[in-house]
Amino acid sequence: MGRHSSIFFIIIPNFTVNPSFYLLSVTLFLLCADRSYTMPEPHSLDPLLIPRHVAIIMDGNGRWAKRQHKPRLYGHKVGVDSVQEIVECASELGIEVLTLYAFSTENWKRPADEVGGLMGLLKNYLQKELRRMVENDIRLTCIGDIESLPADVLEILRSTMRETRENSKLTLNLALSYGGRAELVRAVRNIITKVDSGRVQLDEIDEKLIDSQLYTGGLPDPDLLIRTGGEARLSNFLLWQVSYAEIYFTDEMWPEFREAAFIRAISEYQRRERRFGKTSAQIKSG
Ligand code: FPP
Repeated sequence: MGRHSSIFFIIIPNFTVNPSFYLLSVTLFLLCADRSYTMPEPHSLDPLLIPRHVAIIMDGNGRWAKRQHKPRLYGHKVGVDSVQEIVECASELGIEVLTLYAFSTENWKRPADEVGGLMGLLKNYLQKELRRMVENDIRLTCIGDIESLPADVLEILRSTMRETRENSKLTLNLALSYGGRAELVRAVRNIITKVDSGRVQLDEIDEKLIDSQLYTGGLPDPDLLIRTGGEARLSNFLLWQVSYAEIYFTDEMWPEFREAAFIRAISEYQRRERRFGKTSAQIKSG
């Protein structure tokens, strides 16, 4: 964070030495000034209005790769760099939960080499990041039908969750083989089983009970849902949980969605008035 401003502390002293350094310094100064204008630093965010839970639909890897004349998997690969950067930034900002839509139930229908490539990236990411998660107090959880993941990915996923389960700064929640409708079907089945066995009465079924039967049971609902890649749809993601989330769509493709873009999204979130069905006057009067 604040990397750009450090550039000119290095170059400014040089202008007394050589005029070409002076020109370079001025150009870089203008560039930095412009960047800091369009990319607010985290310090410009209100620390009291940091969303507790941010969920992200990471879209646009394939299109971004195509623009670079590269295979789709290259887009996913660079997308992992965005994941690393956003996780770090979320943790520094004090976000409690970051849910990333990494693989949907529908993604199984993609060509086998792309599915295999994505599974490989996920496995590498988990292997590489475990140490950093432990050091940075990050807990890994996941939502979705994880039993359908390849055995080696499932094994490392389980061990990472086990080794990070006591961590409490940030919960990194990966949606893997996840579908919102499938999640609701599973919750309904669980509840009917409880009713059938007499553990739950019909009139005890309420929102809280349904919440508890979702994969996200125990986590706060997302306050902010971000979708990159220029599309404006939910794509079967957290259908129940995003009822009151602020939704932020951006044309930026996931591989180019980095710290500054994330801060812009949170900044926009902080400008919104969350009314939860009430009037603006009611919200303002507390
Ligand atoms: C959507 O882009 C993205 C995905 C289906 C996968 C997202 C996966 C990663 C970012 C890498 C692995 C994740 C982790 C957590 C290590 P798309 O391929 O649908 O893009 P397109 O709409 O441009 O085709």
